[in-house]
Amino acid sequence: MADFPFSFTIPLPGAVPSRIDNHIRRTLSSMKGQFLDHETYQAMLAEDDRVIYEVYEIQRPAVEGELLMGISIVHPGKVGNEFFMTKGHFHTVLDTAEVYYCLQGEGFMVMETPEGETCVQPLAPGNVLYVPPRWAHRSVCTSRQADLVTFFVYPGNAGHDYGTIERLGFRKLVVEGENGIEIIDNPRYAHE
Ligand code: F6R
Ligand code: ZN
Repeated sequence: MADFPFSFTIPLPGAVPSRIDNHIRRTLSSMKGQFLDHETYQAMLAEDDRVIYEVYEIQRPAVEGELLMGISIVHPGKVGNEFFMTKGHFHTVLDTAEVYYCLQGEGFMVMETPEGETCVQPLAPGNVLYVPPRWAHRSVCTSRQADLVTFFVYPGNAGHDYGTIERLGFRKLVVEGENGIEIIDNPRYAHE
């Protein structure tokens, strides 16, 4: 029997969807090794294992033909000079894309391919970002006070490969420099 169509709302501001099947909270402790300034990371963690970002998932079967949707909320803050961000990942099925629609806040999507191409795109309310197949992606909140809120949709069979980024890092980082927000080369990027 076919599934029945459904709808839900994403009220603004706030963007907590009216339908939530799963709520993920990622705290500082789950981001070990991801931020450039390890010392500041340890010091912050010793004080408080704070929530860096949250995801509200609308669950569907994780199979080809389905679309998985949800809301991603990255909170404002920095570890040293580096803005709060998601872990970031490649899709396990590398040839799967994703669409992000920015609802609130400001930030960037940091992306790269396994071959080393990089792209960092701004996110602001109204921006639609197409992440093509093969591009790893991480969202970064650069606002001082506001959450970065995006709606995303991607193929049900995509899967998530977090391990590659945990091992290598991203090639580009978003930091607060002397003259404001800067996109820099990651000095700790671990070439394989
Ligand atoms: C799904 C996707 C987003 C992220 C979310 C949290 O493929 O890209 O839903 O999962 O923004 O980021 P991660 O998954 O990197 O912790
Ligand atoms: Zn993804």
